[in-house]
Amino acid sequence: MKTRELLDTAKALVAADRGLLAMDESNPTCNKRFAAQGIPQTEGARRAYRELIVTAPGLHESISGAILCDETIHQHREDGTPFIKVLSDSGIIPGIKVDAGAKDLAGHRGEKITEGLDGLRERLAVYSRLGARFAKWRAVITVGVGIPSRGCMDANANSLARYAALCQEAGLVPIVEPEVLMDGDHGMERCRKVTEEVLHSVFHQLYAQRVILEGMILKPNMVLPGLSCPKQKDVDAVADATVGCFLRAVPAAVPGIAFLSGGQSAELASARLNAMNARFKSLVPWALAFSFARAIQQPALEIWRGEEANVGAAQQALLHRARCNRAARRGEYDAVMETGRQRG
Ligand code: G3H
Repeated sequence: MKTRELLDTAKALVAADRGLLAMDESNPTCNKRFAAQGIPQTEGARRAYRELIVTAPGLHESISGAILCDETIHQHREDGTPFIKVLSDSGIIPGIKVDAGAKDLAGHRGEKITEGLDGLRERLAVYSRLGARFAKWRAVITVGVGIPSRGCMDANANSLARYAALCQEAGLVPIVEPEVLMDGDHGMERCRKVTEEVLHSVFHQLYAQRVILEGMILKPNMVLPGLSCPKQKDVDAVADATVGCFLRAVPAAVPGIAFLSGGQSAELASARLNAMNARFKSLVPWALAFSFARAIQQPALEIWRGEEANVGAAQQALLHRARCNRAARRGEYDAVMETGRQRG
């Protein structure tokens, strides 16, 4: 393991107010999003869409790293250039999603465990040879009556830590993603408590598995009321609850916290990240960054709709969201940035 490289990559992923673009939807998830827009669910359409993303001019100004899935890391531009080379040449660090998805956790009704540890060492070696420099593994935690259980939180935390240790052995920076889902009518305080408990379990396991905290990035949910909770909170309240929770549970050695968007609207995700940075950037030990999929891609996907003629406009929408989130990292995002933009 080359520790210096790990540390440098982790730092680079959250440097200069840039953030991560998650474009690692599994084929079924990507197909579901395509179907909603009337786009054919084919390998060719997925390739064309990912080409639109990686060739968006100037994407590197706001995006430090892009997370690919197994299909995409093997794909090429129409001119034959591998996507991974297009990204690296433009100054974007390529990463790869390596988990095999969340499956039902035996004996725990309504709860999931993420699989994918079998053969992971060998797969990481292949991805590293292809040029990936970081990896991602997502665990999902559901909030409901009597859940999450201790068994679910600890099993997922253990898998995340074993994945992270294998990544570092292979020279890849692990993105550690414990996602407390937004679904439900629970209030923000419940989300805060569950998130804190999950994070304590994750960092306990990361310590036990000897993961170098300086060579990883945490990718968590923001602390939010459930999607169907009648009491939604303003952005400052979300910023206070989120940063307060992470101060209690995330060691200062971690270089960056790159939030997932989790189904928030693109504008709200930017506004909430902005509030965190505007209020706390100079007071917290870690960078407060982003690793969004839907909150960067969704407007672009809705404009593209699978039509070659819409590629330019879709790329502009993608770049706009990336720039909004870079501004949010500086605490300089303003809703005014959204006005005057045509949506397709
Ligand atoms: O694993 C989930 C993605 O990387 C983040 O996606 O921002 O749409 O929640 P999201």
